Amino acid sequence: MKEKIQKESSKSISGFSKLNKRGKIKWIVENFFKDPENVMHELMSYWHRNEDQQKIVDGFAENTISNFPMPFSVAPNFLINGKTYCVPMVIEESSVVAAASSSAKFWMDRGGIQAKILGVEKLGQIHFRWSGSKDSLENFILEIQSRMLIHAHDILKKMQERGGGLKEIKLIQLESSQNLYQLLISFNTCNSMGANFINSCLESFSITFENFIEEKKLANELMGQFELIMSILSNYTPQCLVRAEVNCLIKDLGEFAGNMTPQIFAEKFYTAIQIAEQDTYRAVTHNKGIFNGIDAVVIATANDFRAVEACGHAYAARDGKYRSLSKCSIDDGIFRFWLDIPLALGTVGGLTSLHPIAKRSLELLENPNAEELMMITAATGLAQNFGAVKSLITTGIQKGHMKMHLANILQHFKATEAERSRAELHFGQNPVSHNAVREFLKRD
Ligand code: MEV
Repeated sequence: MKEKIQKESSKSISGFSKLNKRGKIKWIVENFFKDPENVMHELMSYWHRNEDQQKIVDGFAENTISNFPMPFSVAPNFLINGKTYCVPMVIEESSVVAAASSSAKFWMDRGGIQAKILGVEKLGQIHFRWSGSKDSLENFILEIQSRMLIHAHDILKKMQERGGGLKEIKLIQLESSQNLYQLLISFNTCNSMGANFINSCLESFSITFENFIEEKKLANELMGQFELIMSILSNYTPQCLVRAEVNCLIKDLGEFAGNMTPQIFAEKFYTAIQIAEQDTYRAVTHNKGIFNGIDAVVIATANDFRAVEACGHAYAARDGKYRSLSKCSIDDGIFRFWLDIPLALGTVGGLTSLHPIAKRSLELLENPNAEELMMITAATGLAQNFGAVKSLITTGIQKGHMKMHLANILQHFKATEAERSRAELHFGQNPVSHNAVREFLKRD
C-alpha cells in the first residue's frame, strides 16, 4: 500500500512546465514507462533536425516533448470551377485519400466540381444581464456601435483597410430568461479565420458597452441593472457558407460494379442520401465521411478543425434534427449531388503562415484566398462523400479498407516484397486480420 502511494505520488509534479524539454521527457519516461531509455530515445528521434523549425512547432502548444507524426498526403486531379488542384490532406485513416483522388478523377472526366461562396459572415457575442427594458437598450444600439468603432479604431484599422471589419450589431434576448441578452455582432475578416481579431474586438467593445451603459444610467437615460457576463466569438457561422456541387447526365455516370446501370446507380445513390437526411444514426456516419475530407484539408492548411467540425455538426442539425450535409437529386435525367457547409477558414494569420508544412500546402494550392480555400475544402468533402457512398452502394467499403489494412499489417511484420505479393494474392480471397497475416507469414 505504502509503495503504491509512493508510486502514485511520483506521477504528479509541480513546476513541470519550468523543466526544459529533456527534463520533461526524463521525468515522464522514468515515472510512466517500463523502458525509459528506449522511450526517451524514441521521443527524441522525432525532434526536428533543424532547431529553428522545432522551436516554431514547440511554440504552437505548451509542455511539448516531441512531435506527433501524421501522414501528409495529396489528392490530385481536383477540377474545381475549371481550375485543377492537387489537394493536400493530413489524415491517418486508410482509404480516405485514395477515395478522394478517385472521386476527383471521376468528376474531372465529367466537367469537374462547381463551387460557390454563399456567405462570409463571422460572428461574435457579448453576453450580459440587463434588468431594464429591451426597447430602452435597442434605442441606443447605433450610438453604441459608433462608440465601439471609435474606441476599437486601432484594432479595426487594418481589417477595415482590407474591406473587412464590423458589419452589424443585433440585440438579442435569450428565450429562457428575461434578463439574459447578447449583442450578436457580425464581422467580415477577409482572408483570416479571424478568431483573434474578433475576440480582441469583442473585449474592447464590451468595455465600451459597459461604460456607455453606466454613463446613460448616471444621466437617467437608461434604467436597470447591467452585468457583463462574457465576450467571445461564436464558432457557429451558418452564413459563412460554401456550396460544392457535381452534376452530369445520368447516362454519363457510366457502369458500376456488378454491371449496375447508371440509372440504378443514380437511384440507389439518391436513396442512400435520403436515408442520411432522415435517419440521424446514418447521418452522423455519412457526415463523418464528409469530414474525413474536410478535416484533412483543414489540418493540412493549419486551420481550426475543431471549430469547423463543431460548426458543421450544428449546421447539420439547424432545423432541430441532425441530417445529412449533402443532398442529391435525379430529375430530368440529370444526377446532381451537392454539399452546403459552413467553413470559417483563413489563409493568412494564425498558424496558416507559421506552420512550415501548412505554408507548403497553401503554396501547393497556389496560395488561394480564404474563399477559394473554402471552395477547395468543400469540394474535397463532397468528393470524399461521393466516394464513400459509391463504395457503400456497390462493392462495400471493406474491400478497399482491407487492402490498405493488409499493407499496414505486412509493414508491421516487416514482410519482404515476395511475401507481400503472395499475401496480397492470398488475402484477395480470405479475410484479413492481424492473426491471419501472422499465421500466413509463418506458413509461407
Ligand atoms: C469511414 O471513415 C467513413 C464512412 O463510414 C462514411 C460513410 O459511411 O458514408 C465510409
